[in-house]
Amino acid sequence: MAKLELKDVKKSYGPVEVIKGIDLTIEDGEFCVFVGPSGCGKSTLLRMIAGLEDITDGTFAIDGERMNDIAPAKRGIAMVFQSYALYPHLTVRENIAFGLKVRKTPKAEIDSLVNEAVTMLQLDKLTERFPRELSGGQRQRVAIGRAIVGQPETFLFDEPLSNLDAELRVHMRTQISDLHSRLKRTMIYVTHDQVEAMTLADKIVLLRGGKIEQIGSPRDLYERPQNLFAAQFIGTPKMNIFELNGDFSSLRDHLNLPADAHYCGIRPDSFEIVNDGDGILSATVRLVEYLGNACLVHAEIKGHDTIIIEQPVGTQVRAADRISLTTSPNAVHAFAKDGNRID
Ligand SMILES: Nc1ncnc2c1ncn2[C@@H]1O[C@H](COP(=O)(O)OP(=O)(O)OP(=O)(O)O)[C@@H](O)[C@H]1O
Ligand SMILES: [Mg+2]
Repeated sequence: MAKLELKDVKKSYGPVEVIKGIDLTIEDGEFCVFVGPSGCGKSTLLRMIAGLEDITDGTFAIDGERMNDIAPAKRGIAMVFQSYALYPHLTVRENIAFGLKVRKTPKAEIDSLVNEAVTMLQLDKLTERFPRELSGGQRQRVAIGRAIVGQPETFLFDEPLSNLDAELRVHMRTQISDLHSRLKRTMIYVTHDQVEAMTLADKIVLLRGGKIEQIGSPRDLYERPQNLFAAQFIGTPKMNIFELNGDFSSLRDHLNLPADAHYCGIRPDSFEIVNDGDGILSATVRLVEYLGNACLVHAEIKGHDTIIIEQPVGTQVRAADRISLTTSPNAVHAFAKDGNRID
C-alpha cells in the first residue's frame, strides 16, 4: 500500500522559491505523471518525495504517516534516473543484486529476486555482461531491475527514457506500462514529453513555474483543458488560440460563445476547409507539411500568427492558396480574460 499525499508542499533554495505550494493525492497503485516545461520543478518535487531534497514547508505523507523527516531508505521508495547510475565494474546480475547485498539479504533470496527481475525485463541472457557491453535500453532495464528487487511500494522515474532513440523509447514505454500492470505499485513518472504523459498516465499533473496548472486524466487534459497553458501544452500541433476582441469578434456569434469568453481555442484537427465564402475565417496558406498519415497546413490570417490545420494527405491545398475555414461549435474551447476555461 502506498497512497501519497502532499499538502501545501514548498521548496526554496535560499531566497528563491521553486515549488510554490503543491496539493496532490496519488492513490495506491496509481500511475501518476508529472509533466511540464523545463525548469518547472518536476525533478525537485520527485526528489522531495524520494527524500533526496528537504521539504521547506508543507507535509508529505505516505498512507497517512508524515514522511518529511524520514530517511529515503525508510520510505519504501525506489527511484530510477535518466542517467541509469550503474556500477561500471559490476555485471548486470551484480548491479541488480547490489542493494540487496548491502542490506545483507540471504543469498538464496537474492538469487530468486534477481532471477525473477531479469526474466521480467528480458535480461536473462545478459546477466554476465558489464554495462559498457549493453545498449542504452538494456542499461535502462538494468536500472529498473535494481529498483524492482528492492520490492518498493512506490517507484519514481525521472525522465528514464530521454537518452534513448525514438523507436526504443516507444518500446520501453510499453514495457514500463506493462511493469505497472504486473506489479500494481504506485508509480510517479517525470517527463517533458506529452506523448509519454498521455500514454502512460492514470493521472497527469501539469506543472508550470512550481505550481500545478491542472490535474486530471489524459482525457480530461485533452478534452477539457482548464486554462490556456494546459490547452496549448497538451496536443501536437498545439491548439490555435484566437483573441475574440477586434479581428476575431465575429467568431463569438458564429460559434455561440459565452459573453465573458475572451479567447477561443480550436485544435488543428477540428478545422474543416470549405468553399470560399462558406467559412468563418479566411487565411492564406504559407506551407503544407506532409507527415505520411496527415498534412499540416500552416496558414496566415492577416496580421496574426500562423495557425495550423490538420488535413488528410489527399488535400489539394497548396502554398499561396486562399482558404476558407469552419469548425463545429462543439469543438471550440472558450477561455476568460484571465485564461481560465469557461464551460
Ligand atoms: N540545487 C539547486 N539550487 C538552486 N536552484 C535549483 C537547484 N535545483 C534546481 N533548482 C531550480 O529549481 C527549478 C526547478 O528545477 P527542476 O530540476 O525541478 O526542473 P525540471 O522541471 O525537472 O526541469 P527539466 O525538465 O529541465 O529537468 C529550476 O528553476 C532550477 O534552476
Ligand atoms: Mg528534471
